[in-house]
Amino acid sequence: MTIVAPSILAADFTCLSDQIKLAERAGVDWFHVDVMDGHFVPNLSFGPFIIKQVNQITELPLDVHLMISNPEKYVDDYIEAGADYLTIHGEVIRNDPSLLHEIREKGAKPGVALNPDAPVEDYESLFEHLDLFLVMSVHAGFGGQKFIPEVLHKVRTARQWRKRDNRDFLISIDGGINEETCIDARDAGVDILVAGTAFFRSSDKAKFTSTLRGG
Ligand code: DX5
Ligand code: ZN
Repeated sequence: MTIVAPSILAADFTCLSDQIKLAERAGVDWFHVDVMDGHFVPNLSFGPFIIKQVNQITELPLDVHLMISNPEKYVDDYIEAGADYLTIHGEVIRNDPSLLHEIREKGAKPGVALNPDAPVEDYESLFEHLDLFLVMSVHAGFGGQKFIPEVLHKVRTARQWRKRDNRDFLISIDGGINEETCIDARDAGVDILVAGTAFFRSSDKAKFTSTLRGG
């Protein structure tokens, strides 16, 4: 069944704990946590301090997405804060898997994200080292953008590689996911749907969650 992971970036931070409880009651599987450094992306969000607090109020896995230029400096902080999955951008590490190994050795599951313009073929050598492949369906940096369907071929390619090489990493899609765009994403074969704006705006979050799952 498709994993539904609301992005807390779109939550109301004046009552974050209520928003998390609301999402849990709606039956979500994970929380997606967007970290932005104002350098790799032109926006700032939050860091380990907030993630640690989120981790204290939920048992659900934290899927931390680092949109930062120097992830090697902060891996320890995010793992200590409670990241279960820790995803870094392929554009930052290029073809060097050493940080993925470090994340695994330190007890989290390593992921690689690619922006819409990054060709997945350029990063094929990383796929034997990761637990999660995050396909960005908007340009990283802001919530509330429009889904870019042209990225879906990356989902299909990753599925082919996974089968060919007998691997078991998960494939996630992030950006502009709502009740309509989830259909093509599911058809392409994603395992995880990240939804920020559409999830937190929806008035019936349980229904939204089951629609994303295809139920
Ligand atoms: C974009 C972030 C996304 C974003 C998703 O840089 O990585 O996770 O918060 O938000 P929506 O669903 O609003 O596109
Ligand atoms: Zn994200």
